[in-house]
Amino acid sequence: MFPVIRNWFLAIGFVFGGGFLVAKVENFDFGWKFHAGEVEGAEAVDFDDAGWRDVDLPHDWSIEGEFSKEHPSFSRGAWVQTGKVVYRKTFEVPAEAEGQRYVIYFGGAYRNSEVFLNGQLLGKRPLGYISFHYDLTEHLNFGGENVVTVKLDNSSQPGSRWYTGTGIYRHVKLITSGKLFVPVWGNRIVADDYTDKSAEVKLETTVRNDFEEARELVIRHKAFEPGGTLSATVEGALTLEAGEEQMMNLRLDVPNPQIWSQETPNLYEVVTELLVDGVVVYSEKETTGIRRLEFSAAEGFKLNGEVVKLKGVCLHHAGGPIGAAIYPRTTERQLEILREMGCNAIRTAHNPFSEEFLDVCDRMGFLVMNEMFDEWEIVKEPATTQNGKKIRIPVDYYAGIFQEWADRDLRDFVLRDRNHPSVIMWSIGNEIDQMHEEEGAHIGKRLGDIVRELDDRPITNGVNGYGWDKYPNDEAVATSDIIGYNYIFQKGFDREWEIHSDRMTVVTEHQSAQAFYPRSTYLYGKAEKEFWDKLGYEELDAREWVESRGLVGPKGVDAWRLVKERPHVMGIFIWTGWDYLGEVIPWGWPARSSCFAPIDLCGFPKDGYYFYQSQWTEEPMVHVFPHWNLEGATGEPVQVYTYTNGDEVELYQDGKLVGKQSNDREGVRYQVWDLVYQPGELKAVSYRDGKVVAEKVVKTVGEPAKIEVTTRRAEMKANGQDLIYVECTILDKDGNEVPTANNMLKFDLEGPAVIAGIGNGDSMGLEPFHANPRSAFHGKSLAILKSTQEAGVITCTVSGEGLETAVIDLKAVTP
Ligand code: GAL
Repeated sequence: MFPVIRNWFLAIGFVFGGGFLVAKVENFDFGWKFHAGEVEGAEAVDFDDAGWRDVDLPHDWSIEGEFSKEHPSFSRGAWVQTGKVVYRKTFEVPAEAEGQRYVIYFGGAYRNSEVFLNGQLLGKRPLGYISFHYDLTEHLNFGGENVVTVKLDNSSQPGSRWYTGTGIYRHVKLITSGKLFVPVWGNRIVADDYTDKSAEVKLETTVRNDFEEARELVIRHKAFEPGGTLSATVEGALTLEAGEEQMMNLRLDVPNPQIWSQETPNLYEVVTELLVDGVVVYSEKETTGIRRLEFSAAEGFKLNGEVVKLKGVCLHHAGGPIGAAIYPRTTERQLEILREMGCNAIRTAHNPFSEEFLDVCDRMGFLVMNEMFDEWEIVKEPATTQNGKKIRIPVDYYAGIFQEWADRDLRDFVLRDRNHPSVIMWSIGNEIDQMHEEEGAHIGKRLGDIVRELDDRPITNGVNGYGWDKYPNDEAVATSDIIGYNYIFQKGFDREWEIHSDRMTVVTEHQSAQAFYPRSTYLYGKAEKEFWDKLGYEELDAREWVESRGLVGPKGVDAWRLVKERPHVMGIFIWTGWDYLGEVIPWGWPARSSCFAPIDLCGFPKDGYYFYQSQWTEEPMVHVFPHWNLEGATGEPVQVYTYTNGDEVELYQDGKLVGKQSNDREGVRYQVWDLVYQPGELKAVSYRDGKVVAEKVVKTVGEPAKIEVTTRRAEMKANGQDLIYVECTILDKDGNEVPTANNMLKFDLEGPAVIAGIGNGDSMGLEPFHANPRSAFHGKSLAILKSTQEAGVITCTVSGEGLETAVIDLKAVTP
């Protein structure tokens, strides 16, 4: 790991007499030129890019366009534009820097990147999710201009089973150091051995000498406690011949360790320095968390000696309206909302995420199943419904490059991520067909060996078939430490218990307890006919599938019950935590995002969110649905549902008690109530031990009259890379949320911020994310504001016809 990168550590850039420079990591995101389409010769130094667009990174070109049926990314890729794009950045390197080493580091570029410096090809990297870096030194023009050109090719479509984005959608950094250095990802930290009194933090550090003579040096590691106090130091001496690289093992003995846990995710800072003649010539900073991970077939997973059931969700990498170009704040907000739902673990489906994503998990105490592959050697042909038919279309994703790149990609993935305390296990696959054949054993072993050589955490692999009697090859399964079940049900569990009761197991993926309908969609009265008529396509297949999940998603409820009842199963990762772009099954056009999750694309909870809250949290809650504006349904029978973590629940209709039902907190329960709809009010009251602990009212509300604007935080950093999420709710004149309101809302900004995207959570909305005004959906809308590099007050005004205008004051502050 080149930790400095992760922490945006800007070490002191002193140049010492001997030509040494303490390592420096610069943000290289600003001031790029961009062109959509293929350009011959764009790598040439004298190529004229004056007419190209100015962009800053991270940048995702796919999200900027319109949705179109003509785009070959198809429903799997969210109907967005894809293709070839080129980026150029011109920068100067001072003459005095001659003798220093320069490395360019890409967090990720989608996809098939070719990177050039001053016309020279530095390398190619097909996988768009992998981080990679090149040494620039040899081709640099010291004392003059240099140009980096990045060509990307995402034109072979459909290229994925989900939305990918197109562009340099993650951060780029420029790393400068002297000729004695720790190579990128060269510092391994293992911090899982501790008592109350002390912790052993083991460091395995690679050091390289690029001088033409031998060098004697000292490696020094310092550990700083969460508050910043120096808590331990260790040093070791080393002699490196010219051009030599050596690894050195040292140990920091940290007294009275502050342990990393979910509740107190304490992070230590480890500064690694190289000293020559007592002078620091290289320095980098890394974070680590001291914690113990234990896994067993009988008890599942333990963190710091305590059993923790994984209440997990699968996520895809993109961030809704801003596409793949996400920021740490995107992740932070996502995890805040997931934590409020009771979630404690994330599966990075099905590819490497950004290191900033893992940094946020480290800081917030989330547990991560870090996943690498969705394809090995066999191309996937995912099902989708289109023009009334269910069809299968092969995607040009990874199988074609697996032979050549898998080992390298996997190695880099583990090297980059192994210092994160949040990572608790690795996953080497998702629904890999070859796991059903003998060859799955060979490939699984090969991949497993790569991971085990670099790290000690266990390996899993999300395998399908357990739900429909197509069990995988047993030898292939044995290549993982933890058996990963995708979509397993009672029969599969019974069979597994018979033959694998001595094996560690986790449900890598399963259905969520959530309807397929977009948020707050309840089809009663004529609404049902209108809904399906409006879609007017592939009704047969989609409808059957959608209706089988109803409003609750009974298979998802069952999935959690099966896991809850089995202490030996480490936990579950539901598909998915948040809706994501693409993979719109069971829908087709005009759906452009998925609808599997209890949280919509913009972060607004659906009903399923409350199911998980009722199961995964202790803070008293009760939820009742549907909403009570079921126009045209007066006099019709309506089923009402309640979710609570109390032990009993009462339901009142228009002040009259409908009944009381029990809620077995040891089991997995929810309540169904048969009512006849009439405008009015429903009230759910939850009890624990006979005492009221929570209440919720839904009532028939009036016309849209005003807008409530809220944010989870009112300040962001004026660094051009921070975000504020502005959430809008449409209210009636009495302040009640109007769950049917789809008003057009306009967002106007004054002050140093720009609108990065606007969304509403409707999986079928075809307005582009840059449209402004843009419609709200079922009472909600979201605008994502991005800071500029200027500090100041930002006024965000939200208006809509017939609605009282709302204004919110926000701030960008100097970082
Ligand atoms: C799973 C697959 C996921 C997603 C999901 C949709 O089988 O692993 O990536 O496609 O189905 O239901």
